[in-house]
Amino acid sequence: MSTTSSQLSPSTYDPIAEMYHALWADWYFSSAVPALEGLFFSHVSTGQRVLDVCCGSGHVTKELVRRGYNVTGVDASAGLIAIARREMPEVDWRVGDVRQLGIHGGYDAALCTFDSLNHLTDPSDLVLAFRSVYAALDPGGWFCFDMNLDEAYQVDKQQWVVEVHDTRVSMIRGTYDAETREVETELMWFIREPDCDLWKQQSSRIQQRSYSQEEILRALSEAGFQKLEAVPGEEAGVTQGMGIGRLFVTAQREK
Ligand SMILES: C[S@@+](CC[C@H](N)C(=O)[O-])C[C@H]1O[C@@H](n2cnc3c(N)ncnc32)[C@H](O)[C@@H]1O
Repeated sequence: MSTTSSQLSPSTYDPIAEMYHALWADWYFSSAVPALEGLFFSHVSTGQRVLDVCCGSGHVTKELVRRGYNVTGVDASAGLIAIARREMPEVDWRVGDVRQLGIHGGYDAALCTFDSLNHLTDPSDLVLAFRSVYAALDPGGWFCFDMNLDEAYQVDKQQWVVEVHDTRVSMIRGTYDAETREVETELMWFIREPDCDLWKQQSSRIQQRSYSQEEILRALSEAGFQKLEAVPGEEAGVTQGMGIGRLFVTAQREK
């Protein structure tokens, strides 16, 4: 890695790392698995070296490990990486920025799930990220990721969505500016401490940006990727409404 964890600015995921891990990240993989079967797992053989970019606390990484890949997980949030390391100490976890991974070859494939690349709010950063992943791949390396298009954020109506359970309350509010294509998601969780009436709170605001399919494919080409394929989430088999406005993309580093 060219960037050490102490050089990275704190991630907006750090203040909510524990609750994000326990209450939010879990539902992505179960709905995305049909798409990942067709667009990633069927192209990458067991035992190959896989870079899980923007891996969070490792919900998808865990599945890569279970399937026998040799995995490195990289994420900008030191808080999420600490949880991932706690849960799966045997995995190679690194705190790093996708725009400057500083890895030069060694990986057969890279995966970046759950609209992580929408967190890059400047279009020039998207090209930097693709260049950085390209550099980490060996010739012929396979890259698969998903990103949200405009349609996914149109449902954000600036209204709090509240879920109340006996021991936890979650409040999520999304705001989307269709002019600037900026997205802000406010996340707030309250968890009741066991056997008492004390509630712990964690909250944060996460910034994202929507990109069009054309912008994404152009940025990939600029970074050198070839054999680009884009499949809408629902067509790729994503379930539970998670496919709406979500684009799955595959690309290859030249052989
Ligand atoms: C919605 S989470 C997805 C996590 C994981 N891929 C999954 O599927 O569970 C988005 C992740 O992107 C990470 N992220 C955002 N910007 C990043 C950057 N510039 N470099 C590396 N990771 C980043 C966040 O820290 C967060 O863990």
